[in-house]
Amino acid sequence: MGIEQKKWRCTVCGYIHEGPTPPDSCPICGVGPEAFELVVDDSIRRAMFSLTYGLFVVTSQKGELINGQCANTVFQITSQPPQLAIGIGTDRYTHEFIQESKVFAACVLAEDSIDLVRKFGFRSGREIDKFRAVDYTISDLGLPLLNRALATLQCRVVGQLECGTHTLFLGEVVEGEVLRDATPLTYAEYRRRK
Ligand SMILES: Cc1cc2nc3c(=O)[nH]c(=O)nc-3n(C[C@H](O)[C@H](O)[C@H](O)COP(=O)(O)O)c2cc1C
Repeated sequence: MGIEQKKWRCTVCGYIHEGPTPPDSCPICGVGPEAFELVVDDSIRRAMFSLTYGLFVVTSQKGELINGQCANTVFQITSQPPQLAIGIGTDRYTHEFIQESKVFAACVLAEDSIDLVRKFGFRSGREIDKFRAVDYTISDLGLPLLNRALATLQCRVVGQLECGTHTLFLGEVVEGEVLRDATPLTYAEYRRRK
């Protein structure tokens, strides 16, 4: 079997390199391998786009500090024991919190809460306090739980897998609560209305 050839695009000048890994430097503009991104086949990209998701605010804590971010990559792995997986970018402030405290909560958003996607999905907690003017309760695990969520699931991290730009955290659900009867917000509905 031959070495798998991939295409890498220089994000600075657009040069395309073919090979199993990005080049040591761009022959056109000279930047290093970190400036190259993998070119994903368009048919793969379009097929991936047909996957369906819900929308969530994933929260965590670090000592006295709290933070949260919007995420669509939250899904049940097993029901016995109840386990969730979440995909969190390694550059997210929330990642730092989960990595340190090993606890997180998934707040399931309802269709009437698109404003919470805007609030938690576009700015980092490094720059702003995303919980300002948001109703929340601090749980026994120190996790902020959004009062407008339709359900909350609190987890302890029991495993993790590094996936390049993201970490897949596996969490055992230790507390779960349905807060109200509402329709869950899907990623497709958010895209339709945003
Ligand atoms: C609709 C939507 C879905 C998102 N899904 C994810 C996700 O699954 N994982 C992730 O790491 N970031 C996701 N993001 C991006 C983060 O919410 C965003 O980078 C956030 O500002 C990170 O905040 P933090 O730095 O305070 O943790 C999503 C954003 C939006 C708007």
